[in-house]
Amino acid sequence: MNRLEGKVALVSGTARGQGRAAALRFASEGALVVGGDLLHEEAVQTQRLIAREGGTALTPGPLDVTDEESVRSWTEEAVDAFGGVDIVYANAGAVRFGAIDGRPYEDFGFTMRAELDSVRLTVRAAWPHLVASRGCVLTAGPTGTLTGLIPLTGQLAAQGAPYGIRAVCVGPGMNDTDGPRSDVAEGAVFLASDEAAYITGANLVVGGDWSAVLPGATT
Ligand SMILES: NC(=O)c1ccc[n+]([C@@H]2O[C@H](COP(=O)([O-])OP(=O)(O)OC[C@H]3O[C@@H](n4cnc5c(N)ncnc54)[C@H](O)[C@@H]3O)[C@@H](O)[C@H]2O)c1
Repeated sequence: MNRLEGKVALVSGTARGQGRAAALRFASEGALVVGGDLLHEEAVQTQRLIAREGGTALTPGPLDVTDEESVRSWTEEAVDAFGGVDIVYANAGAVRFGAIDGRPYEDFGFTMRAELDSVRLTVRAAWPHLVASRGCVLTAGPTGTLTGLIPLTGQLAAQGAPYGIRAVCVGPGMNDTDGPRSDVAEGAVFLASDEAAYITGANLVVGGDWSAVLPGATT
């Protein structure tokens, strides 16, 4: 308890899944959680769940992490409400994966925007506030985009080091149930906490044995 006491945590994609699990878990550790999602009503529901458990959360409005202006105003609402940003968990994302000849080319661009550009935009908007707080960035993405996300996280870690900013990738395995999701949230709490003060530029895979399975493979 209280491993994130008083920290302002921006968590994207809080309508469901890992984002909701992380928002609840961060709040239970004392973080002031600013959530957001394209699915605004569901994200507000997450905020209500946090409040019901005695936590503090804010969900300023519909958030589109692929839209620079949307991310900017989300971040500014957080700063106006809580005075700064200590943690950014760039969790929101969506994928359209498939065989190379099985999906339209536009789907590749969609996935890159939703999983990689979104991280850049989210971190970029919060960067001055992270510099001020010597904060922490967590990135998340599916196996298929980790080859882009890990170097991006490394770049953030290198660029952030002079300012005391850490950046770590949380690489979830395949999951669609509460158990694995709460394991991922647990990893995220650890990485965002002072217990991980010497961890940056790393990729923590929280995925059972799924990291050994390529996208599209069957078991
Ligand atoms: N579930 C898995 O098996 C798995 C595995 C590896 C990585 N991941 C990654 O972890 C992250 C969370 O996964 P999840 O399982 O919770 O997914 P999910 O689909 O259950 O939840 C993702 C959330 O992000 C939101 N979102 C999508 N695009 C958005 C946008 N442009 N702006 C704002 N919100 C947006 C969705 O509405 C949704 O609420 C994603 O980046 C995902 O790719 C998931």
